[in-house]
Amino acid sequence: MKEILFVNACMRGQDLSRTWRISQAFFQACKERWPDAVITERNLTGCDLPVLSGPMTDERDRRFQTDPHAPMFQPAWEMSRADLVVVAAPYWDLAFPAALKIYLEWASVLGITFHYTEQGAQEGLCKAGDLVYITTSGGPIGDSNFGFQYLQGLGKMFGIPRAHCLTVEGLDVWGADTDALMAQGAQRAQELAATL
Ligand SMILES: Cc1cc2nc3c(=O)[nH]c(=O)nc-3n(C[C@H](O)[C@H](O)[C@H](O)COP(=O)(O)O)c2cc1C
Repeated sequence: MKEILFVNACMRGQDLSRTWRISQAFFQACKERWPDAVITERNLTGCDLPVLSGPMTDERDRRFQTDPHAPMFQPAWEMSRADLVVVAAPYWDLAFPAALKIYLEWASVLGITFHYTEQGAQEGLCKAGDLVYITTSGGPIGDSNFGFQYLQGLGKMFGIPRAHCLTVEGLDVWGADTDALMAQGAQRAQELAATL
């Protein structure tokens, strides 16, 4: 059975978020492709994870020694066991909403999502072969796809070798045919699912 982790950083919620709508087109195609797949959603729109402070990182290191399955390690365990990781986040200020960064810090745990070999090399511990990053933007993204670049790098650190980016751009440009752009995006989402 395929486990798909859906990291939902579509902060405007299901009713308003275009990014969320594109993610659903992708999941529709996933369900057709892998009918038994289980999609686990990590919904970040409530922003309920605390900002990782210095004392909290110390507490996290201490707790890992005695209780590695404590709730604070849940983001890391879900990341490490997923077969496919799908991140949906709107393009905010050249990257993504802060709630996603907070989540990714909680998902980056030495001994769960990555570790160091005896030779001192960093090695990923996650199972997924692919990470899919879905975003929509008001204008063109061009070379400034920093959110995706970061996820691609972090995915490599976690041992996820391939990262794919799906964008729908220019949705807030005056006069843009948003319905057509969204329909093209949904089509590309389905095509991407077919390639995985
Ligand atoms: C806080 C904020 C920051 C944004 N920053 C950018 C930006 O840097 N570049 C851009 O093209 N659009 C930017 N936008 C527009 C969004 O990327 C665009 O409206 C997107 O489709 C929103 O996705 P959503 O419908 O899933 O919420 C921003 C919007 C918000 C609310």
